[in-house]
Amino acid sequence: MIQKFDKRNKDIKVWINGKLLHRDHAKISVFDSAVQGGDAVWEGIRVYKSRIFCFEEHLNRLVESAKSMAFTNIPCLIEVRNAVFSTLEANRMEDDAHIRLTLTRGEKITSGMNPVLNQFGCSLIVLAEWKPPIFYGKDLCLVTSSIRRNSPLCLDSKIHHANLINNILAKIEANHAGADDALMLDLDGFVAETNSTNIFMIKDGVLITPFAKACLPGITRGLIFQICKKNKFPILEQDLSVTQLYNADEVFTTGTMGELARVNEIDKRKIENKGEVFRKIQTLFRELTEKKGERLPF
Ligand SMILES: Cc1ncc(COP(=O)(O)O)c(C=O)c1O
Repeated sequence: MIQKFDKRNKDIKVWINGKLLHRDHAKISVFDSAVQGGDAVWEGIRVYKSRIFCFEEHLNRLVESAKSMAFTNIPCLIEVRNAVFSTLEANRMEDDAHIRLTLTRGEKITSGMNPVLNQFGCSLIVLAEWKPPIFYGKDLCLVTSSIRRNSPLCLDSKIHHANLINNILAKIEANHAGADDALMLDLDGFVAETNSTNIFMIKDGVLITPFAKACLPGITRGLIFQICKKNKFPILEQDLSVTQLYNADEVFTTGTMGELARVNEIDKRKIENKGEVFRKIQTLFRELTEKKGERLPF
């Protein structure tokens, strides 16, 4: 599943530290922490029909991640919110857009790892692109990766940081195997998530997803719990083995970039997806995208 260049993004403007710049001129310093050590946090956010979906939740997670990384001079929420609004307005983006919001530890006075070298405050980047959900209308084929998802013993997956090397290595394995994405296990061999999404299975009408120990507690994942609660679908968190996924009635992934996507193959084993629960949840999720979120002020 390879994304292609979307011509609508040819002349987009990108927000970098208070300036809106044409994409060809939107650059950050070689002294920035994102360049020096992947020392940044980020959010992927979607715009549907003049609303920023789950904006509050994403802003809160961005700031919590920055606090967990002990960033200093974190911009206040109003500042970040206004930067996002200004970027969308400059690009006339009211629907069908995806925002990659990145906050780095900022520029260093000289190269090096030590955050003491960061003396200018954070850098804020708002990259908004025309981008429909990337898995739209497609069933996914996954392959189990040999690369493990971080456990809290190594690096807490609750921090949404930009240092995605183990996910990228897993994705490379998926590419080599001709799969859409990689299924990543935790240090005990239980399923964590894919390299870019959370994962759910359905068995005998019950939705099951891994505990958020070695996966990002995704905002879309959280919405699935809310939808299930409201509509009385049984749902639980469990240590899940790959074998359980192979034998599931239905398997699907969740995330802002691709919304909800059905999985029809894992390690060359077919998932029959014979149930109807996924489609019902997907419809309920789509309904939420129509009404949940902050209205654009322009
Ligand atoms: C590794 C990983 N898992 C899951 C997700 C899905 O999270 P959300 O639903 O908040 O988009 C993401 C999104 O960035 C991710 O990077």
